[in-house]
Amino acid sequence: MNGELVAWEDAKVHVLTHALHYGTGVFEGIRAYETPRGTAIFRHTDHVERLFRSAGMYLMDIPYTREELRAATHETIVRNSLRSCYIRPLVYRGAGPMGLYPLDSPVEVAIAVWEWGAYLGDEGKQRGVRGKVSSFRRISSDSVIPAAKATGQYVNSVLAKIEVSKAGYEEAILLDDRGMVCEGSGENLFVVKDGLIATPGFSADILGGINRASVITIARDLGYEVVERDVARGELYLADEIFMTGTAAELTPLREVDDRPVGTGEPGEITRTLSGAFHDALYGRSDRYAEWLDVVESPAHTT
Ligand SMILES: Cc1ncc(COP(=O)(O)O)c(C=O)c1O
Repeated sequence: MNGELVAWEDAKVHVLTHALHYGTGVFEGIRAYETPRGTAIFRHTDHVERLFRSAGMYLMDIPYTREELRAATHETIVRNSLRSCYIRPLVYRGAGPMGLYPLDSPVEVAIAVWEWGAYLGDEGKQRGVRGKVSSFRRISSDSVIPAAKATGQYVNSVLAKIEVSKAGYEEAILLDDRGMVCEGSGENLFVVKDGLIATPGFSADILGGINRASVITIARDLGYEVVERDVARGELYLADEIFMTGTAAELTPLREVDDRPVGTGEPGEITRTLSGAFHDALYGRSDRYAEWLDVVESPAHTT
């Protein structure tokens, strides 16, 4: 926290932290995997870059360089002897003048790491999860900045997640303000129909997912056609396959949407092929995407 290694139980903030009241923070979700080359952070540079972009969109100057944040993340992983983990960098407005004008409050930085298994469950990753379109629409560029990964904006995902969880579903799908498909509460979404892959683009107010970009690259490298375009809700019911991507959920198929089976009701061939290639990249089994891995020099993997 702010340049110091702090014990888990001491990692606290003041109750008048600006971000706690007004959501004035930006963050990242990153994962490190145990690979043959040691613990490696997937697309670390891209995540740090998105963090700086998000901060910039909220006019926050991060008081560290990209390289300092990278080194601090490595050190935090090593000091916690983790071989694989989830990484949560958080840049937030700390305690300062109250009121809505944030620019006189300090910009604070914390990086937390912990072990975190499959967000939507191992079984969900294998068999697919049940999704439901939420009645809460995705935040729009009219009111906030959907392209930024900002803490306050996540009340939108939280409301959608609560709604569908209480109704008995595993993940929420949010439509944008036009009623077109946007994304999951914490994942981007892909539909497959007749061998073609489509995913909503930035005009649908998505968060530009790093795993989304990775899967697009992998799919094209494998010879599939991927188009970024508007996806209508009805296409979810017509799709042969649907899957979601995100750091927490990795690649998770949808087996049902709104109680309608997706395709055969089991993950389809393209989903399984992409999932295999994607997980090979995550776990360092793929030479082709080796440059996506930021290897942590850790004694943990040699012991
Ligand atoms: C709202 C939302 N959309 C999409 C994503 C997927 O982004 P990424 O693949 O960079 O984790 C996330 C997760 O960070 C998210 O919270």
